[in-house]
Amino acid sequence: MRSIVDTYRSRTPRSAAMHERAVRALPGGDTRAVVSHRPYPLTMARAEGPYLWDVDGNRYLDLLGNYTSLVHGNAYPPIIAAAEEALRRGTQWAARNEPAVALAETLCRRVGSVERVRFTNSGSEATLLAVEIARAATGRRKILMARFGYHGSGAIFETGTYGREGPDTLLARYGDADDFAAVLERHGDVIACVILEPVLGAGGVMTPPPGFLQSVANAARGAGSVFVLDEVITLRLGVGGAQAGAGVAPDLTTMAKIIGGGFPVGAVGGSEALMALTRPDGGPVPSSGTFNGNPVTAAAGLVSVEHLTEDRIAAMARATEVLAGRCAAATEDNGLPGAVTTAGSLLNLYLADTPAVGPSRPDAAAIGLLHLACLNHGVFLAPRGMMALSTVLESHHIDEAAAGIAAALGDVAASLHGATASSLAR
Ligand SMILES: Cc1ncc(COP(=O)(O)O)c(C=O)c1O
Repeated sequence: MRSIVDTYRSRTPRSAAMHERAVRALPGGDTRAVVSHRPYPLTMARAEGPYLWDVDGNRYLDLLGNYTSLVHGNAYPPIIAAAEEALRRGTQWAARNEPAVALAETLCRRVGSVERVRFTNSGSEATLLAVEIARAATGRRKILMARFGYHGSGAIFETGTYGREGPDTLLARYGDADDFAAVLERHGDVIACVILEPVLGAGGVMTPPPGFLQSVANAARGAGSVFVLDEVITLRLGVGGAQAGAGVAPDLTTMAKIIGGGFPVGAVGGSEALMALTRPDGGPVPSSGTFNGNPVTAAAGLVSVEHLTEDRIAAMARATEVLAGRCAAATEDNGLPGAVTTAGSLLNLYLADTPAVGPSRPDAAAIGLLHLACLNHGVFLAPRGMMALSTVLESHHIDEAAAGIAAALGDVAASLHGATASSLAR
């Protein structure tokens, strides 16, 4: 039997050739760490609705949506129409534009704790700006975040993502409010903000115990720190974001992904008083950017957000549970250790009995193999096993996804057969 890697190589010669070309111009052949994997990543040629096509003509069911951004699938016609119309008026000018105002108004209306919005061009810029606002508000420097939390590309966060404290970064255990309170008790006088994801996204789709977010918010405020909720991924979990479901009102909220309708975007929102620190006419936090509040992005983002209704959010969550159940059953049928975590339309597969948070997952090798096997069967998901469903996936797409993943699990089991299938991840 041909190995999973050999099958991948034989299906994707043009992606292999593009990789060889790319490494001569881009370090490592790409410009996003998260899309790079062995033996080489695919090069996609186009995308429509729930499908992607690579440069070799292979079709993939898109279960990732550019890491949760494309909540209505690829090239969603109402978004394309809005973006085209905006584009015809010009790409950007050095003055206010109406779509950016309309998107800000919509975010203020939907997200309970948000009274004012400041746009950036990525989620990473938004989280970095939130830290600067908190520093200006408190006169303190440090942040407290969850060990293995993810808040984007910025040295102050990345150290914590890899489980290490840094000069300005303190850590506590995600889901353990007492641990956060203890750190705040000891170091509260130097902590400008506590920043948390409502659900660990990159950390493996982990939902905290009820009351965790509120307890940390209370402890942060008790210490005079700003409480920042990073809703870059989780804004898709409710019309008012995950904060509405959790019943917590953060001081600042960071947003990105779905609010750009597929275009580069980020935003910080919060109370009028805190956000006033970024006022262009004399606020102490400088925040400018040639492309901030881009009108094409804003026009697309407005449609993306407005078409994300309560019903569609609930339908995606139901489809996610169906897919999770079928993945769990297929893992068991193939005699593999496995676990599946879910939160709304987000799902993460593990080839280990217990989901492990952090970069050194015991099932890293097996999940890497499963990812390639899924690609061989036309299912596109994150190399770490994460999926994010979209509103354009119908029940027959979920059947297609489940069948592809089951076939891929069969390939993984066969490839590990005789070796240490079950010992690999236990
Ligand atoms: C919770 C969270 N915060 C921030 C970011 C950074 O956003 P961006 O990739 O747009 O810079 C991400 C990206 O995945 C994220 O998941």
